[in-house]
Amino acid sequence: MASIIVNGGRPITGEIRVGGAKNSALKLMAAALLAPGASVIRNVPDISDVTLMAEVLSVLGARVTREDHSVLVDATDITSVETPYELVAQMRASIVVLGPLVARFGRARVAMPGGCNIGSRKIDMHIHGLEHLGVNIAFEHGFIDATAPEGLKGAEVLLDFPSVGATENLLMAAVRAEGATVIENAAREPEIGDLVDMLVAMGVQIEGRGSSTLVVHGARELSPVVHTAVGDRIEAGTYLVAGALGGGPVTVTGFDPAHLEMLLTKLELVGCEVAVHADGATVRREGPIRPVDVATLPYPGFPTDMQAQFMALLALAEGNSVITENVFENRFMFADEIKRMGADIDIEGHRALIRGVHALQGAPVRSPDLRGGAALVLAALVAEGETVVSDVHHILRGYEDFCGKLASLGADIRMIEE
Ligand code: UD1
Repeated sequence: MASIIVNGGRPITGEIRVGGAKNSALKLMAAALLAPGASVIRNVPDISDVTLMAEVLSVLGARVTREDHSVLVDATDITSVETPYELVAQMRASIVVLGPLVARFGRARVAMPGGCNIGSRKIDMHIHGLEHLGVNIAFEHGFIDATAPEGLKGAEVLLDFPSVGATENLLMAAVRAEGATVIENAAREPEIGDLVDMLVAMGVQIEGRGSSTLVVHGARELSPVVHTAVGDRIEAGTYLVAGALGGGPVTVTGFDPAHLEMLLTKLELVGCEVAVHADGATVRREGPIRPVDVATLPYPGFPTDMQAQFMALLALAEGNSVITENVFENRFMFADEIKRMGADIDIEGHRALIRGVHALQGAPVRSPDLRGGAALVLAALVAEGETVVSDVHHILRGYEDFCGKLASLGADIRMIEE
């Protein structure tokens, strides 16, 4: 088990380039299953979730090779349509192979994801959507058994909620359906637009990119492609919040600042100066941190994946702030940990009341999940004394060279293996 040790109080300033989006790269790799031949995904981050997705694809028979930040997926000889529990249990996003497998082979068996530490995270919308497209679904021995012996049929699917994963699974299932599929109330996250771009390049006609209505005209044959993943707006947002906490200036490049508009607006409201560039943004703060209310919502709302990092910032505000979490239940485990560093936070249901304190103190804390773990490290950068963040395998799932990048901004930070 690895831990990150931070000695707080160093100035945080400089420039960082972010990699491709984790939440895009994983789905683009799955999309490669749709076409026989070798697809190449560029700008893929070197993180453990990508290693796991490579393993998922390998178990199915795909040949996966990684070089630098490119991943080649040769999906010519898929020998199995079954994704085992030990992989799905480690990474819920593995469920995204369901759509492409059933589209190309008319069959998929994917282990049911278990509970998760950020809420129950149901998959009902994935299942109902696939059923609308003519897929028979059975739940057997812990597996979702999806079959479409007659092929998939285009249909209209209205999602209860703009679920990112359900939109992606349905998009990838619909690409081989007969006729048009309309996905209403689709998620609009930039990573969905990225997946649409890859599918279009593979030969599918899709209307409505970036909107909540996607129309997919199924294609008979798809071709492999070379595709570059969109920059990681959440990785970028994490380093921008580090700049806001430490004062900066911190410049982050490698992403489209339009994808972080809501976060950048909130950073201005807390008292930061934000400058937007073609390929990134710069944040600096001279005055105190002002309190501000935040509500997480599907894109273009405030991203739930930035909620914990922003809470770390508000923990040091001059006054009280409220964060309302509308996307996931139980996504406040981070609050209990940062309270151990002196933060004053009360949770009631899906609301957190954060009473700003003057300073945080270094303490031993535990990463509750990926973003919560990153947020604890951010808090540690400005805390008094030493913080030891344990269970950092969560952080390594989604941040490439987290310690190295923060050290390049001046942080006194190191990772140790215990
Ligand atoms: C993806 C992201 C995650 C991000 C989230 C929301 C990946 C690998 N993960 O997760 O980082 O925080 O989007 O932006 O891309 N729900 C249902 N039934 C379903 C599907 C979802 O009730 O069939 C609920 C979930 O429990 C959750 C909400 O909908 O409360 C949002 O989930 P969803 O948008 O699907 O998130 P993921 O795709 O799992």
